[in-house]
Amino acid sequence: MRLTVIGTGYLGAVHAACMAESGHDVLGVDVDPARIGALTAARPPFYEPGLADLLWRGAEAGRLRFTTSLAQAAGFADTHFVCVGTPQQPASGAADLSHVEAAVDALTSSQRLGTDGGTLLIGKSTVPVGTADRLARRLRATAANADVAWNPEFLREGSAVHDTLRPERIVAGVRSAHAEARLREIYAPLLAAGVPFISTDTATAELVKLASNAFLATKISFINAMAEVCDAVAADVTTLARAMGADPRIGPRFLTPGLGFGGGCLPKDIRAFVARAEELGLAESVAFLREVDEINQRQRRRTVGLAERLVGGSFENRCVAVLGAAFKPGSDDVRDSPALAVADAVRRRGAEVRVHDPEAIDAARAAHPELQFALDVNKVCEQADVVLHLTDWPQYRALDPAALAEVVRIPTVVDARHSLDPVAWSRAGWTLCAPGRPRLCPPHAEDGVVGPPH
Ligand code: UGA
Repeated sequence: MRLTVIGTGYLGAVHAACMAESGHDVLGVDVDPARIGALTAARPPFYEPGLADLLWRGAEAGRLRFTTSLAQAAGFADTHFVCVGTPQQPASGAADLSHVEAAVDALTSSQRLGTDGGTLLIGKSTVPVGTADRLARRLRATAANADVAWNPEFLREGSAVHDTLRPERIVAGVRSAHAEARLREIYAPLLAAGVPFISTDTATAELVKLASNAFLATKISFINAMAEVCDAVAADVTTLARAMGADPRIGPRFLTPGLGFGGGCLPKDIRAFVARAEELGLAESVAFLREVDEINQRQRRRTVGLAERLVGGSFENRCVAVLGAAFKPGSDDVRDSPALAVADAVRRRGAEVRVHDPEAIDAARAAHPELQFALDVNKVCEQADVVLHLTDWPQYRALDPAALAEVVRIPTVVDARHSLDPVAWSRAGWTLCAPGRPRLCPPHAEDGVVGPPH
């Protein structure tokens, strides 16, 4: 089939490449010529494992092209995936739909759209419930035969290619049998491989995405709230999470305590969900999501406070090493990165801060030019008074704590991602603190292996 993918950010670039990989003839569209140039040259504009290969294969096969022209897109295909961003509006937290509307308007203004009676716009962007219906009305005013469907995307950055080619489900919010048939045809290879296809109305499809991200955010904030309780009573949230997660009704995933969630999706999506629910007079139904957000923000402040206590109560004249800048491992995305938020807060409180990240330094430097960055962990940790482990890159788990202890001034580490081996680090002479877990001191320390809660 011939398809266009409008918007080539994380979602659109991966979707376009994966649709070409599935055998479709794909035209990706974006207003940013630099991005289109990179994608045309099979260079992903961001770090995403496996994407470069797919871009290359799609281009080689002649099934994947990119353009900045929406008019060209309107003439290229009858099926258009809308993958543009829906950023957070600063004041209200509501989703800004201007890019979605601009894309739809630009398509409809083309003479060629809808003339054959079969144009289908398939939204993939995360939008407030009711958006598909509103767009359908807008579209029909100018293109009588056009229809709108909503097909939310559940890909995770860092495993986006796998998540798109092997999704756990395909949710198809449709307004007609014709739209459902078109979606089934597009995803035929995945359906043949056994991927469940859930067909529903557009409002439910929009909600599935919002509710899924809200649930994941709630799960993370739940365990982080438990970490706060554990701190107060010297209990261990790591063990608590493991024991809770062993119950299959709860499950271990997204139950890792620590610094909390960030990125371009979870934080903005729960705020947009709250804003939309308030518009609908349903503020009470989603009031808990405000608390989920607040618990999440609090973990950043708690981590800063813990580090400040560890360096003696003030960051003045202290050197802080930060491991991690990306909002999560496997990505160079620093949007709403908890790691960078902590690094910047520590800097503003007077510390000299040096930040390491294996992939995200360029993006982090652009967002926070006032921080110092290095690609060498030893350089970042040199003479540090405390090391903050803030993004769970596998490289940090593999560090040799004995060697690193030789580099720092004081071997104290805050494991805000609960993934460093506590025994190995304390044996190597480190005092290891993690929110929600009793402090672990080196075996030779006066207060024994397990110290008081921080
Ligand atoms: C999230 C969802 O997982 C995807 O299903 C969804 O498609 C995507 O948002 C989206 O809306 O586009 P993503 O933002 O790539 O994907 O990242 P996640 O893997 O969900 O992680 C989100 C944040 O939660 C990260 O900061 C991560 O470090 C944090 N996290 C995750 C925790 O703090 N604890 C956990 O146990 C798990």
